Order: sequence, then structure tokens, then C-alpha cells
Amino acid sequence: MACPPPMRPPLPICKPMSPANFSPASVWTGDNLHIMRGMNSRCVDLIYLDPPFNSNRTYEAPIGSKATGAAFKDMWTLSDVDVYEHGELADHAPPVYAVIEAARHAHGKGMMSYLISMAVRLLEMRRVLKDTGSILLHCDDTAGHYLKLLMDAVFGRRNCRGTIIWKRHYGNNAAKGFGRIADWLLYYTLGDNYVWNQVYSEMKETNAKGFKHQRQRFQTC
Ligand SMILES: C[S@@+](CC[C@H](N)C(=O)[O-])C[C@H]1O[C@@H](n2cnc3c(N)ncnc32)[C@H](O)[C@@H]1O
Repeated sequence: MACPPPMRPPLPICKPMSPANFSPASVWTGDNLHIMRGMNSRCVDLIYLDPPFNSNRTYEAPIGSKATGAAFKDMWTLSDVDVYEHGELADHAPPVYAVIEAARHAHGKGMMSYLISMAVRLLEMRRVLKDTGSILLHCDDTAGHYLKLLMDAVFGRRNCRGTIIWKRHYGNNAAKGFGRIADWLLYYTLGDNYVWNQVYSEMKETNAKGFKHQRQRFQTC
């Protein structure tokens, strides 16, 4: 499916459910905001996003790899922010904008700029998710606490179903202090009627001893 041209519609509002206007397993390249704006409302089951973390770094693909030449800048200033989007958030999404304003006071304009960019995309994700849908946002403690507030403002705090902590590695190479070795997945749904497929894992040998049959040696995660 071709990437729709960039548009500047008003912030998304609740729209009726409609069938997906794209094929399963489609892959798009380009800014996800423009791609999502071409998608029908309430047609997506699950969103997992691994966005920039506001790490204040620039990333480049290793020379010699298939992605050589690809890079992305994870540094944010007000010049990266669309003034129109800034104004739209202030006018039409006051709770979201209040979080962004708080981040500006507590952290600075860089965090504010990053959160504006995230907010317009998260609102679009809320629009495309089905009522039964879920969203998992991958982040770390650079911006994670601000993103938690933003997710509460966009999806509602009661729809927070938990935080998965992902231990990235074991070693702590920090010269001083605790190592920053964990990422987070903030898990939200659109409402109480969300789809949940139970996840099972095999029990540790010590806990599994009492169970005779192999099939009993699984526990819910
Ligand atoms: C933290 S990295 C995730 C990398 C990827 N998950 C992986 O494991 O290789 C963030 C990615 O988001 C991409 N990105 C940044 N802004 C974007 C946007 N507006 N639309 C789509 N992708 C974007 C960057 O190019 C980068 O590849």
C-alpha cells in the first residue's frame, strides 16, 4: 500500500469501527504519523511500539551492514516540533497538554518537544485501536515516567494493565551507582473488554516436583 501524503487533519476524535483498509502483514516505511492518518479508525488489534527514547544520541547503522547509511537522531528541540501540532494539543487535548507542560517545567524543552511528537502519534494510535485492543509502549527510564503520565492522559489510568520490566543484560558497567540495565513496556488497553491470550511458562523444577504430569507443570505468567 502506498504511503498516503502528509496531511494535517485535526486531532483524532472517536470514530465508528470500520474494516481495515490495508492487508495483513503490510510493511510501510516513512513517518508513522502519516501512515496512521491513512488508516481507518478502530481496526487494529494490537500495537507494539519501540520509538526513540529521547536518549540525546544519534544512531547510525554499522558500516558494511545492509542498513549502511541509515541513521536517526534521538535528540529533540522545539525546532523538531510542528507548531500546528503543538497548538492542536493545547486546544483539543488539555490533559495531554498539561502533562507536556509539566515535563517542560520539571525537565526542559527537549523533553517537551519529544513528548509532543509522541503525543500526536499516541492519539492517532488510540484512534486506530479496536475497543478490544491493547498497546505496549517500549521505553526506558530516560523518559518512561513522563510517558507513563502521557499514556494515562491518552488511554486513561484505569486502562493501565501493568508494566513489564525487561532486563536487557546482566553486567553493570557503571563506574558509580546502579547499572541502568532495564527497559520497560507500558501496557494499556482501550477498555475493560480487551482480548487477553493467557501466557504460560514452564515451572521451575523445585515448584514442579509435586506434579506428576508434564502438562501440569506450567504456570500462568
Ligand atoms: C529505539 S529505535 C527502535 C529500533 C528497532 N525496534 C530495532 O530493534 O532495531 C527507534 C526507531 O524509530 C524510528 N523512528 C523514529 N521516528 C519515527 C517516525 N516518526 N516514524 C517511524 N519510525 C520512526 C527510528 O528510525 C528508529 O529506527
